[in-house]
Amino acid sequence: MGADALARARELLRAARRVVVLTGAGVSAESGVPTFRGAGGLWKRFRPEDLATPEAFARDPRLVWEWYEWRRGLIRACVPNPAHRAIAAWMAHRTGVTLVTQNVDDLHERAAREAGEGLDAPPRLLKLHGSIFHARCTRCPHRSRLEAVVDATSAATLPRCPGCGGLLRPDIVWFGESLPEEALAAAFAAAADSQVCLVVGTAGAVYPAAAVAHEARAAGASLIVVDPGNTEYDAAADVRIVAPAGEVLPLLV
Ligand code: OAD
Repeated sequence: MGADALARARELLRAARRVVVLTGAGVSAESGVPTFRGAGGLWKRFRPEDLATPEAFARDPRLVWEWYEWRRGLIRACVPNPAHRAIAAWMAHRTGVTLVTQNVDDLHERAAREAGEGLDAPPRLLKLHGSIFHARCTRCPHRSRLEAVVDATSAATLPRCPGCGGLLRPDIVWFGESLPEEALAAAFAAAADSQVCLVVGTAGAVYPAAAVAHEARAAGASLIVVDPGNTEYDAAADVRIVAPAGEVLPLLV
């Protein structure tokens, strides 16, 4: 990791009044949560059209729940890594930071709780792609946290809505679906009003989430990218720190 890049990024963050942090799967990689793209990525092993679309769920809800329960179990066994912890501690001690995540895990929230801060509610944490520990009804507007292990051994044991008895589905934004309007609007507003956009562990390939950083850049913010690989942001970045998030963030914020 370049000492110059780190010093420049630190200075930009220190001078900024408002910062938007955009995270993706890479921020959770060192916790053991698989990313989507690249070697070992989930979309190398599974086809999104079989598992992460409304059509896939309509076709075979049991299979989709089985896959999500496997991921839920994996994430339950993970703990926040130094990147989540550094971001949480930083946010606990300064104002003007909005954290926007594409991740459906709960590792930012868990790190925030460890740091003595509640990040569960917006406006400080905006979850653009939903939450793997929440479910919503396919028939009525019901949404709730779903802690219990889902028994996906048969269609008959899948979780049901306590209100109307409809089938529950993971409260996740699937391919072809819209992002939560309020969170998306708040993320764009924070981006347009920031002096620095810090992008951590996202390839920048999935829109509209990826556009949050471009919005910040277009509004005059400096762009800092922390990622050990290449991303769609590299050409636009003012500072690139090419190293794992868990090594960089504790030195950066
Ligand atoms: P990707 O899997 O597309 O990208 C992960 C990024 O993390 C890559 O740029 C890697 O180089 C980087 N990375 C890997 N290890 C890292 C580490 N230790 N520290 C920092 N970066 C690291 O994941 P996303 O960009 O988050 O959608 O993917 C966006 C969306 O596509 C996801 O939210 C998901 C997926 O389909 C939904 O679930 C709706």
